[in-house]
Amino acid sequence: MGTSIPTLALLIFLLIVVGNSNSTIICHEKKRTTLLNFRNGLTNLSSSWLSSWSVQENSCQWIGVHYDNVTGRVIKLDLFGMQLQGEINQLGNLSRLLHLDLGINNGLFVGDLSWISGLHSLKYLDMSGVDLSKIVNWLHEMNKLPSLSELLLSSCGLESVYPSLSYVNFTSLTVLDLSSNLFKREVPNWLDNLSTSLIYLQLRGNALQGQIPVALSNIHDLRYLNFYGNQLNGPIPASIGRQLEYKRNLKLVRSIDLSSNNLFGSIPVELFGLFELRFLNMSHNRLVGEIPENIGSMTTLECLDLSKNDLSGKIPESMSNMAFLDYLNLSYNYLSGSIPSGTQLQSLGEDTFIGNAELCGAPLLINSTKDEESHGSTPVHKNGDESEMFWFYIGMGMGFVISFWGVCVVIFFKSTWRNAYFKFLDELKDRIYVAAAKGEMVPQEIQ
Ligand SMILES: *[C@@H]1O[C@H](CO)[C@@H](O)[C@H](O)[C@H]1NC(C)=O
Ligand SMILES: *[C@@H]1O[C@H](CO)[C@@H](O)[C@H](O)[C@H]1NC(C)=O
Ligand SMILES: *[C@@H]1O[C@H](CO)[C@@H](O)[C@H](O)[C@H]1NC(C)=O
Ligand SMILES: *[C@@H]1O[C@H](CO)[C@@H](O)[C@H](O)[C@H]1NC(C)=O
Ligand SMILES: *[C@@H]1O[C@H](CO)[C@@H](O)[C@H](O)[C@H]1NC(C)=O
Ligand SMILES: *[C@@H]1O[C@H](CO)[C@@H](O)[C@H](O)[C@H]1NC(C)=O
Ligand SMILES: *[C@@H]1O[C@H](CO)[C@@H](O)[C@H](O)[C@H]1NC(C)=O
Ligand SMILES: *[C@@H]1O[C@H](CO)[C@@H](O)[C@H](O)[C@H]1NC(C)=O
Repeated sequence: MGTSIPTLALLIFLLIVVGNSNSTIICHEKKRTTLLNFRNGLTNLSSSWLSSWSVQENSCQWIGVHYDNVTGRVIKLDLFGMQLQGEINQLGNLSRLLHLDLGINNGLFVGDLSWISGLHSLKYLDMSGVDLSKIVNWLHEMNKLPSLSELLLSSCGLESVYPSLSYVNFTSLTVLDLSSNLFKREVPNWLDNLSTSLIYLQLRGNALQGQIPVALSNIHDLRYLNFYGNQLNGPIPASIGRQLEYKRNLKLVRSIDLSSNNLFGSIPVELFGLFELRFLNMSHNRLVGEIPENIGSMTTLECLDLSKNDLSGKIPESMSNMAFLDYLNLSYNYLSGSIPSGTQLQSLGEDTFIGNAELCGAPLLINSTKDEESHGSTPVHKNGDESEMFWFYIGMGMGFVISFWGVCVVIFFKSTWRNAYFKFLDELKDRIYVAAAKGEMVPQEIQ
């Protein structure tokens, strides 16, 4: 008895001390003030988040706020898609913050970004959808974040891309998303400085002009390159393929989208030396010349869109070997001759080849033997079996088209895809999107 009472007292004492130290470590007054200041700058908070950030509650256990277990400092603020509104201007004191995600809160704006230099440990910054249109010197502010590894500023209303800024400090950047802003000048040359680290470069939906910089081919580990919907002109630099070819066993470009620009010239043979490319879209440009014969060596290609260009000549025989090709679009060019026979190409729909006046053979409803009178759209078949086979192939093609459209759209055009992709790749452990997390959406993307 004599020993059990002190033991009990000690236990209670320990519980109190541990309990107290936990809560004091976890909720410094300064930290709390900073967070409350931040919250007070917002005019409309989503209800679930607001209740977790209650002013009365004597705790910092708020949704989206993560602390370092040892120091109790705020290291991560994840307020992605919380429907927040108002101005952000009060986070500069969170000096140990590594991860700041304010993405997809379309009511947020920043009037003055100078506080961001206080976040000098920051590795991940997502402000996609936040209105930064008032920030004329955004890049100079970002330049004060030397540890930055991922920078996502899609749809921020940014206007200047600082094409002539000669260098940037954040040279360990791996992910850069500046899509859907208002950039009108050339592709910036400060990308040069990122060449050793960048693996994901997303610039679609701007109005960037000039040529694709040759320097991009120095980006050794680039796996995703998207310039869709800009106003780039000039030829595609051959070096984009050449530089990477000899590194074929390393992690290479998996996806290139240069569609809807004004690119001209021929398709560089070297481009088809990118052996591990999965997705290539160069449609809606003014590319001329023939499709290089070595295209057949791209055995991993799953999606190839060359539609709406000025390509001519024959479809290379080697294309019938492209076993992984699920989506192909060669329509609206000046291709001629007959479509190489082989189950792969014949199983695609007519939509793959339409708009090439001199192209013939299955699956087009034009006989291979050129006959000027053969403008009838109904093919003539000797017997029912052939006819059935014909429609079977058409049906199969439709299946491929529909299912692969689904995959392409989900993978490449959902803004959420990139997250899942990099989650699969390596470090991102946070957000997983159900759709993309399903194995079949990112087939064998990771070795
Ligand atoms: C940041 O900290 C300084 C000094 O500790 C304080 O004066 C300032 O008000 C704080 N700023 C915010 C936004 O909390
Ligand atoms: C404020 O946020 C709520 C969600 O919590 C949203 O339904 C509402 O539309 C927002 N108000 C405005 C004016 O956007
Ligand atoms: C911090 O604690 C949580 C829960 O107790 C744990 O899941 C996490 O791994 C810890 N993090 C570190 C860096 O120790
Ligand atoms: C980053 O570069 C700028 C020049 O653009 C320089 O003035 C600044 O000191 C650098 N900042 C850091 C944190 O390295
Ligand atoms: C960045 O680019 C500039 C100009 O090309 C060069 O002088 C500088 O050494 C580069 N810095 C890094 C870290 O690559
Ligand atoms: C290729 O790009 C065009 C326009 O830029 C787009 O309409 C088309 O859907 C894309 N193709 C694929 C397979 O994603
Ligand atoms: C190929 O692209 C053209 C125009 O870009 C489009 O009309 C056609 O439907 C596409 N074909 C397939 C199979 O998606
Ligand atoms: C198409 O080819 C078949 C035989 O393969 C032939 O009987 C038929 O007349 C041709 N049709 C046209 C319109 O040339």
